Amino acid sequence: MRTNEKFSLLFRKKPIASEGNEGGALKRALGPLDLTTLGVGAIIGTGIFVLTGVAAAKYAGPGLVLSFLLAGIICAFAALCYSEFASTIPASGSAYTYSYTAFGEVIAWILGWDLILEYGFASAAVASGWSGYFQTLLSGFGLELPHALTSAFNPEKGTYFDITAAVITMIITFLLTRGVKEAARANGIMVGIKIIVVLIFIGVGVFYVHPANWHPFLPFGFSGVTAGAATVFFAYIGFDAVSTAAEEVKRPQRDLPIGIIASLAVCTILYIVVSLILTGIVPFSMLNVSDPVAFAFEFVNLNGLSWIVSLGAITGITTVLLVMMYGQTRLLYSMSRDGLLSPVFSKVSGKSQTPAVGSWLAGMIVALFSGFISLGHLAELTNIGTLFAFAVVSLGIIVLRRNNPNLKRGFRVPFVPFIPILSAVGCVYLMTRLAALTWITFFGWLIIGLMIYFAYGRHHSHLNPLRRK
Ligand code: ALA
Repeated sequence: MRTNEKFSLLFRKKPIASEGNEGGALKRALGPLDLTTLGVGAIIGTGIFVLTGVAAAKYAGPGLVLSFLLAGIICAFAALCYSEFASTIPASGSAYTYSYTAFGEVIAWILGWDLILEYGFASAAVASGWSGYFQTLLSGFGLELPHALTSAFNPEKGTYFDITAAVITMIITFLLTRGVKEAARANGIMVGIKIIVVLIFIGVGVFYVHPANWHPFLPFGFSGVTAGAATVFFAYIGFDAVSTAAEEVKRPQRDLPIGIIASLAVCTILYIVVSLILTGIVPFSMLNVSDPVAFAFEFVNLNGLSWIVSLGAITGITTVLLVMMYGQTRLLYSMSRDGLLSPVFSKVSGKSQTPAVGSWLAGMIVALFSGFISLGHLAELTNIGTLFAFAVVSLGIIVLRRNNPNLKRGFRVPFVPFIPILSAVGCVYLMTRLAALTWITFFGWLIIGLMIYFAYGRHHSHLNPLRRK
């Protein structure tokens, strides 16, 4: 084979008509409300309940509200692009599948591999935030875990493994293997509790705001706001997980955009209000704690309410974990079904019709990450992976419009190419605000991914006519 032929094979594209029709093994059980709930379930979690504290204390100060606004605007642009893709190519696998049709196989692989990082590290980060609030609750009852098992690997501080984070990850994995409708039902109840708790925080907290705490508003200047945005961006991650459910949705072309946009809108409004109130109650420099939202109530001696907030945060963060891990297994399912990953991940088993073996494998790896790596690192890695995916998806809209102008699109992004370009530029800008170590790990991950692709995926791809079975 000549070199340019080999090269063009790397960019072989998946025909759009085949999307969502293969396999057909997953049950179509979800409607628009399920999806919005899934979205809100995926979005409000460790980001608002935990990372806001660090972001306010270290970077943005009371200007945190601007960080949320900036990250929210960038996410809104990206959400529009996700919506168009989801309404055009409603297949499980989200951004990975979109780029398979827009850019071709090798880019799809890079993106899929990147999303494995996003969902894997996001799940681990969220489990670690869960563990923080859970341990606060336990200590309220006078119970303590052995110190070595309370947090990620950090011999200087005498901690080696976050056992709570690992255990909750395994419990969620178990729930997911019971079936999607069952998991969605449990999710619905927990999302309700989480929203009520956030509303209680807003409704009560507003009476304890001291506007003096908002001065100085930008203690670290505007660069603090942008660094804060790169951190709290984590709080918005999750709306994209809605699109991973495409093959389990009854009317995907209408319902996916509704689910994505509605859930992002609800969360953006709540975040802006919560961040204003939080920095209004507690001087920003005191917010660097593992449970800032509960801490704010403690700070004004509302101890009972602080306890309720902790309980709500735990419930809320659980739903994020549920959706993130669900997204992870469905992504692995799609990549495996295309032949790029081992068939183990697409083997649908039993009455529950879920990819159970793949779910258990992924669950165990996430549990290890959550046990050993600190929340700060996990969150940064999640952010860089997600921002990269958002940028590629946004540019993909422009490519797909040019290459396949006549496709049936349930939803169209307005002002193409400006909005996709703004989205991509915004995402890359936020990436530049992340630490050098995060970049190095990210590149390392992508290089390992490419090695796997050339050793395995390229040969086993279902688009390879000479495929080794
Ligand atoms: N947005 C999700 C959270 O904040 C990942 O937990």
